[in-house]
Amino acid sequence: MEKCTTTVSTCAEIAETIYDLQLQLPETSRWEVRPGQFVGLYPGSAARLLMRPISICTAIKPDRLRLVFRAGGPGTKELAGLRPGETVDVLGPLGNGYDVEMLAGGRVLLLGGGIGIPPMLGLARSLTAADAEVTAVLGYRNGELFLKDDFERAAAHVLIACEDGSTGVRGNVLDALRVAQEETAHEVPADAICACGPLPMLRAVRRYAAERKLPCFISLEERMACGVGACLGCVVRTRAVDGHSHVRNARICTEGPVFAAEDVEI
Ligand SMILES: Cc1cc2nc3c(=O)[nH]c(=O)nc-3n(C[C@H](O)[C@H](O)[C@H](O)COP(=O)(O)OP(=O)(O)OC[C@H]3O[C@@H](n4cnc5c(N)ncnc54)[C@H](O)[C@@H]3O)c2cc1C
Ligand code: FES
Repeated sequence: MEKCTTTVSTCAEIAETIYDLQLQLPETSRWEVRPGQFVGLYPGSAARLLMRPISICTAIKPDRLRLVFRAGGPGTKELAGLRPGETVDVLGPLGNGYDVEMLAGGRVLLLGGGIGIPPMLGLARSLTAADAEVTAVLGYRNGELFLKDDFERAAAHVLIACEDGSTGVRGNVLDALRVAQEETAHEVPADAICACGPLPMLRAVRRYAAERKLPCFISLEERMACGVGACLGCVVRTRAVDGHSHVRNARICTEGPVFAAEDVEI
């Protein structure tokens, strides 16, 4: 992990308030990135000291990162204004990421909801390269289907759900799975599930996986401050007691953001 100053290659709005930010690392930096890891981006303004955690959508090369984020609050709005050639400080790669080796060769369902969609792209590419059969189910708010074309190249199958019903199945990722089952008379086959999205979606995905006894790995995108395990601002309750601290807590920024769904209380 390092903190370095990166140079913006591209920062483009690819859907309303959704930005595609590509960053060139310094010449001396070569990152080995696991899908599901994230970075801390530092807005330049002195009024916004805390880093903004953003998943690595894909590592285009060991020295070039692609991030896709929603500009919602002041920090991300400032980052959305970056222009090619400008610099931004980045801390990373952070967190644990998904275990691609364990999922290699299997049938893997990737479920991404809203701003949980971007980290699923790097995972889809890595799993496909590891001979997994990937079905990506993407849940959007509306018909602005950011990254859909990238997923169609990265995954064997892509299903779309849209909250406003303008494209694909009306509803969420689980509605898309239900409709696919009704249309084909069998469930979308899977040996494991990986998911990232809002908590209500992750809870429903965890139930879906438990009913089918499927291993399920979820990425938690909750509030963070330091990003490196020091402030305890990001803890999640765990089912097991930690042998070292004797409490049922894990830090999302260091022990996560990816957890086995049955290990955490969400
Ligand atoms: C591991 C991880 C990966 C993430 N990946 C993405 C991604 O790929 N794309 C994307 O659009 N968003 C992602 N998020 C959410 C993103 O970090 C927040 O939307 C963003 O930090 C909010 O900052 P702001 O300036 O818009 O809002 P502000 O309200 O100004 O944020 C104030 C402070 O609260 C923290 N904060 C507020 N909301 C969140 C949140 N949901 N998660 C974490 N910190 C928060 C900020 O870091 C900042 O320190 C991720 C979050 C985590 C934890
Ligand atoms: S954000 Fe500080 S410990 Fe996780």
